[in-house]
Amino acid sequence: MNLPFEFGHIVTGNDFINRKVELEKLKINFESGVNTMLISPRRWGKSSLVKQVISSLQSRKDLVICYIDLFAVRTEEELLNLFAKEVIKQTSSKWEDWVESVKAFIKNAAPKVAFGAPDMQAELELAWHSKKIDPIEIFQLPEAIAKKKKIKIVVCIDEFQNIAWLSDPVAAQKQMRSVWQNHQSTSYCLFGSKKSWLTDIFTSYSMPFYRFGDLMYLEKISSTHWEKYIIQQFERTGKKISSELALKITSLVQLHPQYVQQLAQKVWICTDKEVTTEALDHGVEELLNTMSIAYQRDVELLTSTQLNFLRAFIAGVREFNSAETLSSYHLGSSSNIVRIKKALEQKEIMDFFNKEPAFVDPVFQLWITKKFFKLSSP
Ligand SMILES: Nc1ncnc2c1ncn2[C@@H]1O[C@H](COP(=O)(O)OP(=O)(O)O)[C@@H](O)[C@H]1O
Ligand SMILES: [Mg+2]
Repeated sequence: MNLPFEFGHIVTGNDFINRKVELEKLKINFESGVNTMLISPRRWGKSSLVKQVISSLQSRKDLVICYIDLFAVRTEEELLNLFAKEVIKQTSSKWEDWVESVKAFIKNAAPKVAFGAPDMQAELELAWHSKKIDPIEIFQLPEAIAKKKKIKIVVCIDEFQNIAWLSDPVAAQKQMRSVWQNHQSTSYCLFGSKKSWLTDIFTSYSMPFYRFGDLMYLEKISSTHWEKYIIQQFERTGKKISSELALKITSLVQLHPQYVQQLAQKVWICTDKEVTTEALDHGVEELLNTMSIAYQRDVELLTSTQLNFLRAFIAGVREFNSAETLSSYHLGSSSNIVRIKKALEQKEIMDFFNKEPAFVDPVFQLWITKKFFKLSSP
């Protein structure tokens, strides 16, 4: 069965909607060598956006864009190894050039090309001569290649928040910044999703990446765009949904891009010809069931005061320091509130960054309301 909605991976082509302003801005930055830092909560569409910009610039032979995903990186060695390999691979037009390229630009490594199953795809392997890889040499790599090949390079680093896993994250940032700030032919696009941590490292005066480039917070996509897309995807597959119910899908998940697609898919599956309110409710139930195991685990990691805070928040409390709230929700002293907020932010349960505090994950909010606190939906 060919399902009409896409989620859980990068979306491209017809499934990528809107983001016109962001696309244009990033494209201009990439073309003019301006560094960019892009932040949003998980699954709002950062990777898809950057990939879309990359594909729109594919015809430019004088501009090479490297895309490096740090999702599996936990140590400095892994970071340097991945960075070196990806920059070499993505700035060579064919794998035959990899070995030469490594020899020309990295003194400390011996290259090998391996061919792996199942499709005998070429992979570059680096054996390091000395145990301590020189970070300066590695972070210098894109600029050295850009100069030699007389091209411009943009290095995009996805899941940049994983730098936090390194044994000394600040030292790593210092090394990167000190090298990259002198680059003239290479620019950088750093993006990721731990909003409070990334905001901190990009905007604190004392941090190495302070004022490194354009800081962008990705916004949600407006309901008008979603409405049109949802209606069209139903029609394309011989089903129907009213504007009202399409908009209901978007509002139930608070316009969260991945969940709009995921809920629309569930509703589509629950629908024979035309979407009814029952099918929509059924779709929501299915979505909550799908997420239930993960959410149960999340809840186990919360303390009882943190849960009490969430319960109060769901009940509409916004003034947490009043004596009445503190006592009726068992929140302890008012100094406790600061700690609770910090913990909930660190656990990526809530976001207090904007004027309006909110749950990071709108489906978690639905689930904890209905299934855990057993309250009626907001
Ligand atoms: N521009 C978009 N148009 C349609 N769906 C989108 C868009 N951006 C994101 N999505 C939805 O969100 C999901 C996550 O997108 P992704 O780019 O992986 O987000 P992030 O990198 O911020 O975690 C996609 O699988 C898709 O369902
Ligand atoms: Mg991503």
